[in-house]
Amino acid sequence: MKFTVVSQEQGQKLGDYELRFVMEDHIEGTPDQEVLALAGFKKGSVQDLPSVRRVYVSLKDMSAESLRMGINKALNALKGHKVECLRMPHLRASYRDDIEGALTAIAEGFVLSQYSFDKYKSEKEEGKLREVLVSVSGTDPNTAMRALEKGKLLAEATNYVRDIGNEFPQVYTSIDMTADAESLALKYTNVSCEHFGKDYLKKQGMNAFLAVNQSSPYGPALIHLTYKPREGSKGKICFVGKGLTYDSGGISLKSNPYNMKSDKCGAAAALGIIKAAVDLDVPYEIHSVLGVTENMIGANAYKPDDIVIAKNGTSIEINNTDAEGRLVLADCLTWAQEEIKPDMVIDMATLTGACIMGLGAFTTGVLGNNYDLQVDFKKKAQESGELYTVLEFNDHLGKTIESKVADIRNSVPGGTGGAITAGMFLSKFIKDEYKDKWLHLDIAGPSFSNDGWGYNPPGATGAAVRGCIYYLLAKAAE
Ligand code: BES
Ligand code: ZN
Ligand code: ZN
Repeated sequence: MKFTVVSQEQGQKLGDYELRFVMEDHIEGTPDQEVLALAGFKKGSVQDLPSVRRVYVSLKDMSAESLRMGINKALNALKGHKVECLRMPHLRASYRDDIEGALTAIAEGFVLSQYSFDKYKSEKEEGKLREVLVSVSGTDPNTAMRALEKGKLLAEATNYVRDIGNEFPQVYTSIDMTADAESLALKYTNVSCEHFGKDYLKKQGMNAFLAVNQSSPYGPALIHLTYKPREGSKGKICFVGKGLTYDSGGISLKSNPYNMKSDKCGAAAALGIIKAAVDLDVPYEIHSVLGVTENMIGANAYKPDDIVIAKNGTSIEINNTDAEGRLVLADCLTWAQEEIKPDMVIDMATLTGACIMGLGAFTTGVLGNNYDLQVDFKKKAQESGELYTVLEFNDHLGKTIESKVADIRNSVPGGTGGAITAGMFLSKFIKDEYKDKWLHLDIAGPSFSNDGWGYNPPGATGAAVRGCIYYLLAKAAE
């Protein structure tokens, strides 16, 4: 998809179709006022007028997210048309205080909406839009182009993560995720990659991670990517991603493991963040640590009743083999703190069904021990249009992960507050000096959608990539 900045005059005639935004139902002054009135155009309407080659979309405001969603609505209305080059309404600074933010959101809206995972379909969707023309006043064309390019790159990194999340489990194992990580390091000179297998994990005492891998024919992979900014770094941030290439539940077998190919979306997001960081020159040294394995069932599988000693010495009673993500993350978090010594650790995981039940399928839970950091992350990250909600720990729930036979247990039978107890479990693996510098993002809901919503087509959404990059860029600008 190509974005071209044109003059206001050119922007009125070039292209083969026009997109017009209307605030709520204010159609007065538009060239098609009468037809729109006849068609009953109202708040929230989308009206395609093929005879004049214009599509009208009602927006409730000019926020970045309204622009992304509005673009998606327009593209849905144009499906089936052979539009190759679309012109946007002329944008004035007065449309929005932050005109560059609006341009970035516009590019995101197009590139995210146009995504489809059709590599296994015999018939591909045809006639996708190739070019978008944008005219803008209040900023110079070069700045406008940079803002559009930023949105395009962010959306492409998101689409890269969607591709990984959507890939099916038979062909996408720890071996493939390792290969993807290595390709990033090959492609970008300021990214390096190291990865470790079973023998290393054994030496490191990463028994919680190893237990989950026990019944998989594919070895575990601990992948570590490092991105170094070309100019001065403002700090060292470490992302840790849950990479379950499949989660059957293990012996505590899921009643329906369908869609559990999506359990690798945390690790996929950690890869996407590296890609976006390079493409956008993010001014932080970024480390991504990925814990990758399957959680399968078989004669070698770890069992409910097992006790494993994690890398940090904590003994864990396994009472549910389906609570496997926290076991993988426990050891990866210990490893990341000891080996990388970052300024901040953010883990991303499709960790609990409870988070989906509590927050709905569109929202990421933001957990940790530092309320101010949680709130600050939410505030900055949600500028991406992704939804974040802060969830707080409490001692009463903390008690429920105590075990009679080990230091802690990995799940709370019949328990309520499952997203929080999972977060409190992870907190046991955060060293004292990191307690205030750690966030846990439960992306179980927003990372995958069977039916799709807004600019997220069905399947993996790439959640947390844009949120985390928006967070880092806003933090860097402070
Ligand atoms: N991967 C799942 C969580 C999940 C559920 C992600 C639905 C996306 C959609 C995780 O490993 C899991 O199974 N969690 C259990 C924990 C329970 C056994 C304490 C869950 O949420 O049911
Ligand atoms: Zn599970
Ligand atoms: Zn899982």
